[in-house]
Amino acid sequence: MAGMIPQPFIDSLLSRVDIVELISSRIRLKKAGGSYKACCPFHDEKTPSFHVTPDKQLYYCFGCEASGNAINFLMAYEGRSFNEAVDELARTAGIEVPRDEQAQKFHDASLPLLKALEFAVGYYKQQLEQHPERESAQKYLDKRGLSSEIINTYQLGFAPPGWNNLTHSCASHINALIETKLINNENGKSTYDLFRDRIMFPIRNTRGKTIAFGGRTLSNDKAKYINSPESTVFHKSNEVYGIYEARKANRSIEKLLVVEGYMDVISLAQHGITYSVATLGTATNENNLRALLKYSKQLIFCFDGDTPGLKAAHKAMHNCLPLIQDGIQIQFLLLPEGEDPDTLVRREGKTAFEKRIAESRPLSSFFFDVHSEGLNLEIPEHKGLLKNRVEPEISLIASPTIKGAIKDQLFKLTRNTFNKSNFKKGNYKQTQGESGFYKRVTTPITVKRKPDISACLALYFYPNKAFEFKDQIEKGEIAAHFPATLNFSHFILSQPIKTNKELLISIATDSDNQNYFYTLFDNIEFIPLADDALKEAQDTLHKAEKEERRDSLLTKSHTQSLNSEEKEELRTLSTSDEQDT
Ligand code: UTP
Ligand code: MN
Repeated sequence: MAGMIPQPFIDSLLSRVDIVELISSRIRLKKAGGSYKACCPFHDEKTPSFHVTPDKQLYYCFGCEASGNAINFLMAYEGRSFNEAVDELARTAGIEVPRDEQAQKFHDASLPLLKALEFAVGYYKQQLEQHPERESAQKYLDKRGLSSEIINTYQLGFAPPGWNNLTHSCASHINALIETKLINNENGKSTYDLFRDRIMFPIRNTRGKTIAFGGRTLSNDKAKYINSPESTVFHKSNEVYGIYEARKANRSIEKLLVVEGYMDVISLAQHGITYSVATLGTATNENNLRALLKYSKQLIFCFDGDTPGLKAAHKAMHNCLPLIQDGIQIQFLLLPEGEDPDTLVRREGKTAFEKRIAESRPLSSFFFDVHSEGLNLEIPEHKGLLKNRVEPEISLIASPTIKGAIKDQLFKLTRNTFNKSNFKKGNYKQTQGESGFYKRVTTPITVKRKPDISACLALYFYPNKAFEFKDQIEKGEIAAHFPATLNFSHFILSQPIKTNKELLISIATDSDNQNYFYTLFDNIEFIPLADDALKEAQDTLHKAEKEERRDSLLTKSHTQSLNSEEKEELRTLSTSDEQDT
């Protein structure tokens, strides 16, 4: 119920509620001195860091920093809106919530609609059990493998063929049903049922109130599914199908699987995957997403692996970007072509399907799959295209951490040219089924690299070595061989930058740094692992130092005689050099 609740009422309500009682009726609290503690319900942990203090009437988690009062707790723990949480607390306290006029009006206007819709749920259920033509519907549900239990959980029903079944049975609900558009009343003249010869799917809001219906044709109607049009109680873009049932089946919802169809949700639930919801025939929009994120910080979007599926995934991903805060996990699961969750879970069962869920791709990498569609990232021009495509998208991401990681990925994907011969030798392999992606395998390959670039690469991974490298270069008098390294070290020390992450941030936020960086590693054929890069750089610097020293001793020997120590040093330097190469 919308509308303002007066603050003084909220204050007095909070003063009447005991937060310890409220929380301990939901999770197990242990007394610890003057307060109570438990394993935090908002993040995964083994030792309790969730504290409830009765004298402050607040909770606080030292692990994830979740905190608040009784209202906040209900909102966070049960995914309720502020008003819903207040309603719930008022109900337990046995007091009436005063509301402003507008909210009251809305409440008064929706009540008869909700009652009429509830009537319709019962009516359609009854038709499934009793109507003379119920057999086609029952057979259909059988064929789709639905148990009577699941039919009951989702309150499925049957709208019989014919134009006036509901109209003739609804008696006093007729006006409300016209308002919810279950009954059509064109120009106030002829009235007829919207849903005819269809399996009926009640769409329930989070509190279990039916606010609309979806209906699947049992004949071969062109419109396979139709949904109730918008009404006072139904705003399609705010609702998802199955959320009430999912929350009822799960104590807390750790993750939500977002699928496309009603039947997918039901079929998954029948196979024990009770945490799926469907968007109502529209692309996942920002409202849906906000609603979904209220219930779970981990969303897995599931789409068909065909072109429309990929397109839908693309759209969902785009809409997600502004909502991605730290702590939110968005994943994508593309199904094999020609399958939907319903067909797949029926064929391969819960365990196999959940394995797919577990292996679904995080947004940060799926992002590049989608945007590199049609590109060959071995071609420099295509790297440019990728950069142009994704930069505006990246700027939409709210979380600085995820934004940084994705920029890092972009940097990796666009900075260098993958060498075809390396690829053929098996140093790179294409990831299965995904577009244009090369994954590094661990087979080491030896590549001759300019020592200067080796050292820069090491600094890229370990910027904290900048001082050491600079010092070594200056003391060893090898600056002429390491101009880029020296330059890069100065840059790192001047910021100052201590970690790879800080370095990436400084690149990401400064276009001068960006230009400098993008060219620094041009022509590198492959990127070594961080530790290999460091070792390579250290060897390289060491070798250069030795060579420099040897050369200077040799030069000296031409003009003056070396003392015995110097002679010995020159001998060692010369022989160890031979061993090195
Ligand atoms: P699909 O066409 O993928 O259907 O539509 P489905 O879920 O596999 O259905 P079955 O298995 O044939 O019964 C997915 C969703 O798109 C919306 C519905 O919400 C449907 O669940 N849709 C589809 C419509 O709104 N209208 C249509 O004509 C078709
Ligand atoms: Mn299907």
